[in-house]
Amino acid sequence: MTQEHAHHVHQGNGHHGHAEHAGLADLLDLDAEVLHEHLTEVMAWVHERAGDATTVLDLGAGTGAGTLALARRFPDARITAVDMAPQMLERLRHKAHAAGVAGRIRTIEADLDTAWPDFGGTGTPADLVWAANSLHHLADPVGTLRTIRTAIRPGGHLVALEMSAFPRFLPGDALEARCHALVTEARTGDMPHLGADWAPLLRAAGFTVEAGHRFEIDLRPPLPEATGRYAQASLRRLRDGLEGRLSPADLAALEALAEAAPHRPDLTVQTSRTAWLATP
Ligand SMILES: C[S@@+](CC[C@H](N)C(=O)[O-])C[C@H]1O[C@@H](n2cnc3c(N)ncnc32)[C@H](O)[C@@H]1O
Repeated sequence: MTQEHAHHVHQGNGHHGHAEHAGLADLLDLDAEVLHEHLTEVMAWVHERAGDATTVLDLGAGTGAGTLALARRFPDARITAVDMAPQMLERLRHKAHAAGVAGRIRTIEADLDTAWPDFGGTGTPADLVWAANSLHHLADPVGTLRTIRTAIRPGGHLVALEMSAFPRFLPGDALEARCHALVTEARTGDMPHLGADWAPLLRAAGFTVEAGHRFEIDLRPPLPEATGRYAQASLRRLRDGLEGRLSPADLAALEALAEAAPHRPDLTVQTSRTAWLATP
C-alpha cells in the first residue's frame, strides 16, 4: 500500500489506531534518546562488516531513531525511510530537519504487509537495508524478507535488529517481573516472531547470514532525566497491554510504580537487542 491509500482500515499484526501510534511514537523518541549510545555501537558494528553504503532503506522506520543514526554513520548515504504510520513519518521528517540531514532522507508511507512500496521508479538496489524492531510486526516475515532480498544489490546487506528482552527498570521488583512474564505469554499468540532467532527465518527467505551479535544494555544510576520518562512511558504501556490480565489492585500498583519512576534515583535500564547481518 502506498501513500495514496493511506487511510485504509488496517487489521492484523502491527496495525494500530491513532492514539496507539501517538503513545508508541513518544516511547520510540525516548528510546532513541536513552539508548543513543547503544544505537551508535550497533551502527559501528554494521559499518565494520558492511563497509560504506550510499543507498539505504530503513523499513518500519518509526520516528527515525535508526534513520538518523544511519545518516550519522553513513554521511554519503541517501536514505529512504518506510513506515505505514503517517504520524511516525511526520516526526521523522521533523527530526531530520532539526539534525540538518533532511536533504538526504525521504519518507514513504507504505504497508509492507500489502505490497512492496513504489520507490518512484528509480529502481536502484540498496547497499544496505535496516529493519529495527519492525520485522516481528509483519504478518508474513519470510514472504516479505524474500521481497526485501530482491531490493538489495549483490554484496549488499540487510541488518535486522530485534529486541531480545523488554527493558527492565526496577531490579528485584516482583510486580514488574510478573508483568513481563504475562506480556511474553500474551504476545506468543499475536506476535509469534517477537524475540525469535531470526537467522533461520532469514535463511528461509534466501539470505546468507554473515554475523549475529547480542548487544547487552545495562545502564546504571546516576542516569539522565529522560530515563525516568522512558521508564514511566514503558511501564504505562505495559499496564495498558495488561488490562484484563492483571487484577485491579495490581494495575493500580503498576500505575503507582509508573507515577513514581521519574523521581527514583535507583532506576536502571536492562535489556538486550540482537543484530543479524545478512547478504542476499
Ligand atoms: C517498534 S517500532 C520500531 C521503529 C524504529 N525502527 C525504531 O527502531 O525505533 C515498529 C514500526 O514498524 C511500523 N510497522 C509495523 N508494521 C508495519 C508494516 N506492515 N508496514 C510498514 N511499517 C510497519 C510501525 O508503524 C512502527 O513505526
